[in-house]
Amino acid sequence: MKNIVVLVSGGGTNLQALIDAEKCGGIKNGKITRVISSRADAYALERAKNADISTVVLTRKEFPDSVSYSRAMLEELKKANADLVVLAGFMIILDECLTREYTNKIINIHPALIPSFCGEGFYGLKVHEAALKYGVKISGATVHFVNEKADAGPIILQGAVDVANDDTPETLQRKIMENVEWKLLPKAVSLFCEDRITIRDGKAYIDL
Ligand code: GRF
Repeated sequence: MKNIVVLVSGGGTNLQALIDAEKCGGIKNGKITRVISSRADAYALERAKNADISTVVLTRKEFPDSVSYSRAMLEELKKANADLVVLAGFMIILDECLTREYTNKIINIHPALIPSFCGEGFYGLKVHEAALKYGVKISGATVHFVNEKADAGPIILQGAVDVANDDTPETLQRKIMENVEWKLLPKAVSLFCEDRITIRDGKAYIDL
């Protein structure tokens, strides 16, 4: 049974999808054992407490820089004996002093089809604003492993939605969350816990 630690910063709808999936047996050989938030006011913490999952708050603004924050986070992950770290709406870029300790063991969900609309400055509604501004006809979400560059690790799963003429950033965000994020993230976590993801030449392959 792999220990899953989920990092959050906000509403926690992706965390809720993981909690619900675990409850109905959708995450094989894995258990969410801790939720760590970068903000004390994240509603994701309520969701964790309602599911009897232990929580830790590691407030980014209490640390002078990214390296010291990442070092403190690394200590928390070791205390939790994390086998898998899931970034679920986590808004902090972690330093390589942490990502190198967990190569291909940190999973992130990005609300666009990487390599589009990703990297520095592309987060939350900004991603969907950029997609609509460009005029793309499909968008979606990407579940990928995390390395030292933002949104740049091996892609595990992707899912797409049609962009409607009257979509706003808010409606597009919601459509992608409901139809893609909340389905793909639990699926990717379960595949990892079942040891069904293989990395070859820097790319991730699912063992069918
Ligand atoms: C989601 O759109 C997710 O793709 C992004 O953060 C947003 C909020 O996630 N990473 P959540 O509701 O806090 O899980």
